[in-house]
Amino acid sequence: MCMYYMYLVCTGWIFHALVCIMKPVTSRPANSERYIVCKGFRSEPGDVLRQYLTYVNLAFDDVHFGTTRHRKCIQHLVDLDTLKDDQEFYDYIYQSNCDLGQLQSLNLKKIQVFAKNANLRDERQTEIRTECLSIWDVPNELRSAPEKGDAGERVQRLLSHEPLTPLGECVPCDLDEIRKEVRSAYDYKVFVTGTLNMSTPPSLHYFYSMGRAHVFRWDGISNSSWKRVYSDDSSCPLQLDIPKDTLFVAEVLPELKGEGKGQRKMYALHIIDILFLYGEDWRKHSYNVRLETAKMFVSSITRTSRTRLSPIRVKQLYRIEEIPALLSNHLNFRLVKGCGSEPRLCYAADFHNHANCCHTFAGLHFVPYICKPWTMAYSQSQRQKYFYNIESKQSTYKSPGSAFSNSTYCMKNKLLLSSKNLSTRDKLVNLTAEMDEWIRSLMPWLH
Ligand SMILES: *[C@@H]1O[C@H](CO)[C@@H](O)[C@H](O)[C@H]1NC(C)=O
Ligand SMILES: *[C@@H]1O[C@H](CO)[C@@H](O)[C@H](O)[C@H]1NC(C)=O
Ligand SMILES: *[C@@H]1O[C@H](CO)[C@@H](O)[C@H](O)[C@H]1NC(C)=O
Ligand SMILES: *[C@@H]1O[C@H](CO)[C@@H](O)[C@H](O)[C@H]1NC(C)=O
Ligand SMILES: *[C@@H]1O[C@H](CO)[C@@H](O)[C@H](O)[C@H]1NC(C)=O
Repeated sequence: MCMYYMYLVCTGWIFHALVCIMKPVTSRPANSERYIVCKGFRSEPGDVLRQYLTYVNLAFDDVHFGTTRHRKCIQHLVDLDTLKDDQEFYDYIYQSNCDLGQLQSLNLKKIQVFAKNANLRDERQTEIRTECLSIWDVPNELRSAPEKGDAGERVQRLLSHEPLTPLGECVPCDLDEIRKEVRSAYDYKVFVTGTLNMSTPPSLHYFYSMGRAHVFRWDGISNSSWKRVYSDDSSCPLQLDIPKDTLFVAEVLPELKGEGKGQRKMYALHIIDILFLYGEDWRKHSYNVRLETAKMFVSSITRTSRTRLSPIRVKQLYRIEEIPALLSNHLNFRLVKGCGSEPRLCYAADFHNHANCCHTFAGLHFVPYICKPWTMAYSQSQRQKYFYNIESKQSTYKSPGSAFSNSTYCMKNKLLLSSKNLSTRDKLVNLTAEMDEWIRSLMPWLH
């Protein structure tokens, strides 16, 4: 028995209330890998012991990093007799070793038999695969090559010939117009928008994937056509790999890393809404659910090992009452390479967990979470939100399914508060103050 292994288990034993040695099914059955699970860390181990283990760790580093002092491997950390004195521990580790050893030897023999006879097949593997896929509700089919065909026609088929909402209708408005339109803070969600470059408005597109890198985009202007996305296309340089029959709305943005001459620019895709994911229709779910699902989808298709792929993010949503904090905590003036000597307002989202990453700030999109004639309000007496139908004057605490905006409604009715005039810190401070005042009037119970 390897003494170092004993030492590890023993350390677990001394420092924890419970120790378990196990080999999960995901570990190859013919190797000696095993896992030590420890629960209930004791925070006050004896000082002598701590010093001893620190010393051992240092010695271990020396062995690994090749200084000449310790040429030999560390083999003995705990005296075998000491181990044997703790009968319970000794019995456990002895038995676990016998059991795991037997299992390993059995599986080694199996490998030997299979290696000698290439015609042998273990049918149970296929059975387990089929059963798992059926339990997980995953279609049992091989991944097929991207289909050929016209992107526009395929999108039409996916949508059952219902037209896509044009995206060009989002006219920037000022705070007065926002105030007029947004009568309850609960009816809207907010996200930050950026720009491709300072001279163009935010660039929203529909993206549709026929599978793998066969991704197309449509600018949402009725007479323009679907264009293939290429990494060397200067107006939308993206490298994507997205499962087929996925349709979403996204913004293409250069994300900035660092400042000054060394600043790096990397184009990213920021999803603002989803319609279909791998052929599944999400349009009728609420905006929150759609974006939460988008997050799961993105994390499942993100492969950090493929560094050439463009980052895909899902917009971070804010509640209206969070806007002042957003403006004062997430925005900063920075010099942006290629945008002159005037610092530009930039936004760092939580997903930009790299400390120095951000994108330019072009304004706030207000997306209607609740659709008319419904509105969501707050009952101060009941201390609870409720739904109110402006037309039928009906009100209810239970959410009426029809109160949540589908994706068509969201794209048609979102509002854009432009940041065109936010060129100095003073103006940002003023906007923050104005927002604060507006929110106080919308939600007096918060203050
Ligand atoms: C920007 O400021 C100008 C004049 O100061 C004003 O006419 C214009 O409406 C403002 N634009 C926005 C989007 O607020
Ligand atoms: C900004 O983008 C537009 C459209 O892609 C392009 O025509 C224009 O040249 C760009 N301007 C700069 C300064 O890059
Ligand atoms: C799209 O239609 C508008 C007017 O309806 C026209 O001015 C424009 O040139 C057309 N664009 C293309 C690419 O056909
Ligand atoms: C989306 O909602 C609007 C308004 O509630 C409704 O008129 C429209 O038919 C809905 N569209 C879909 C695809 O469900
Ligand atoms: C900010 O607001 C104050 C008071 O409302 C006003 O006097 C000042 O001119 C504003 N500053 C800017 C840069 O708009």
